[in-house]
Amino acid sequence: MNQDEINEIRNKLNIVDVISSYGIPLTKKGRNYFALCPFHDDHSPSLSVSEEKQIYKCFVCGESGNVFNFVMNYEKISFKEALAKLATTIGINLGITEKKDNKYDKYYELMDIANKFYQNNLLSGEGKDARKYLENRKLDKNTIQEFEIGLSLNKMNILTNLLVNQGYSMEELNLIDLSNENRDSFINRIIFPLHNKDGKVIGFSGRIYNRDDLNKYQNTKETPLFKKRENLFNYHRAKAAIRNDKKVIVMEGFMAVIRAYTVGIKNCVATMGTALSHEQADFIKKLSNNIYLCYDGDAAGRKATLSSGEVFSKMNLNVFVISLSDNLDPDDYILKYGEENFRKKIDDAITFNEYKIKVLKQKYNFDNIDDKTNYINQVLLEINNEKDIIKQEIMLKTLANDTNVWYNTLEKKLLGLKDKEINKEKSESVVIKKDKKNGFLKAMESLIYYSLNYPKVITMIDNSNVYIPNTDIRLLLNEIIAYYNRYGEINEADFYTYLSNLEKNDLMKELNKVLQNDYPVMENDDQINENLLAIKKYNIALEIRKLEKEIKEEVDFERQIKLMEEIRTLKTKEGKSW
Ligand code: GTP
Ligand code: MN
Repeated sequence: MNQDEINEIRNKLNIVDVISSYGIPLTKKGRNYFALCPFHDDHSPSLSVSEEKQIYKCFVCGESGNVFNFVMNYEKISFKEALAKLATTIGINLGITEKKDNKYDKYYELMDIANKFYQNNLLSGEGKDARKYLENRKLDKNTIQEFEIGLSLNKMNILTNLLVNQGYSMEELNLIDLSNENRDSFINRIIFPLHNKDGKVIGFSGRIYNRDDLNKYQNTKETPLFKKRENLFNYHRAKAAIRNDKKVIVMEGFMAVIRAYTVGIKNCVATMGTALSHEQADFIKKLSNNIYLCYDGDAAGRKATLSSGEVFSKMNLNVFVISLSDNLDPDDYILKYGEENFRKKIDDAITFNEYKIKVLKQKYNFDNIDDKTNYINQVLLEINNEKDIIKQEIMLKTLANDTNVWYNTLEKKLLGLKDKEINKEKSESVVIKKDKKNGFLKAMESLIYYSLNYPKVITMIDNSNVYIPNTDIRLLLNEIIAYYNRYGEINEADFYTYLSNLEKNDLMKELNKVLQNDYPVMENDDQINENLLAIKKYNIALEIRKLEKEIKEEVDFERQIKLMEEIRTLKTKEGKSW
């Protein structure tokens, strides 16, 4: 099926009707329709749908696209499946067998059945010992209900048989790890369901309670639903509390999260015993900039604090560390010392930089001069990382006191580090200020929007011979130009189809990002010409920086003169509007 035919199908569809058909209420405001966005946890309508342009956009999560993309994203199906499905609604049979029900829905359905089954087991006669165990661990009925805690029975096939009798295939059960080699995956364990960001059950964790086993916990293995790197325990429940409190507490184990919840501290998530992944860190960042690490008080916990802290610090987030005494984990700490003391610990959290200094102090022996010097140098690096100059001064004073080294000496050394940093920045080729650089990025991005909405812009870009230094934007513009040359017209909605059909997912992402900004109506060509000129100047500026650097490193005098001449030519070019 070619692009023209697909465009024809798209023209017969109305995105407003299709979105409404999923039971999503749309309200018209001005030219656009608005709805709660189904692609993130939305509390005020941030999905806008343009009937005129036949596209949708969420101003919060950035999802956007045409009618095909909506169905693809909503139903988690491929472009071809979405196309076939929508074609059927207007009486066109594409002969592509459209799957009757989306397989993911079926998996989620299975997870729900299993979850209910486990929960019932806990309440049944066979759940007596497990209930006793939970009672001993001070988990009351409400908590059990809230966290949907259940029990897998001490039987090999009970869940598998139940589901097979309901018509599900053994293959499916094994695939999502409800069964393993045709037997129940979880046997005789207390079951904690694991949810994805939207609150759907995607896996389970089972804990032993009445026997010994090498594995205290057993988790669902990696399945099409359960991707360990991409999920965090309690994320879906904690979202609102995290936004409210403006901070998120990251823990190691889910028992800690559950315990904190029982005393009303609801802004906690857990990584479930593994190292924090970048995906998880990204999800956390979406909720808050203030990260409180509250790992177990043992050696493993300290190690994890350092590695997770680095991940979050590199993302420019404010990282704090809550340290618990007696090697306790948060669960045990709260049980032993109570809610108030735990809340005090949260209030007393230290910055990640301070934490690192504390850790360093334990590593070095101050009686040894070399050790002590190493310590001081390491700490100075951490102080240099601190953004708040008042904190810097306090930290420096503490260091002077701790080590008996004169404050002024330490300060002098710290200033030396700063100079070094500045010089390093200077020598990097792009000295262009950041906001200026952003300005150029915006100029490049705007070209994409304008060329999709005002085809004459495509010709202007094509004729200008401008080089777009940003790879993604350059590739996108190339695709736009290619599309336009081939079909003689272009619009956002059809271009979305084109990228989806070719599975150019990276470009699709870039396009979503670009179209996330608002662009003013194009009044005249000047706007575009100014942007093109800005990009050309930017390229020249980059070229000049490069040559300047070369001059510095060049030893040959004549060659230096030549480079200087080149720079002069570029500079006149830069100043002129040609
Ligand atoms: P309790 O012993 O029930 O209090 O749990 P905990 O949270 O204190 O466990 P711990 O601190 O030992 O481990 C932290 C997290 O690591 C747990 O929440 C689990 O997600 C995970 N974990 C612990 N033991 C195992 C195990 O044997 N296998 C697997 N796969 N994960 C484990
Ligand atoms: Mn524990």
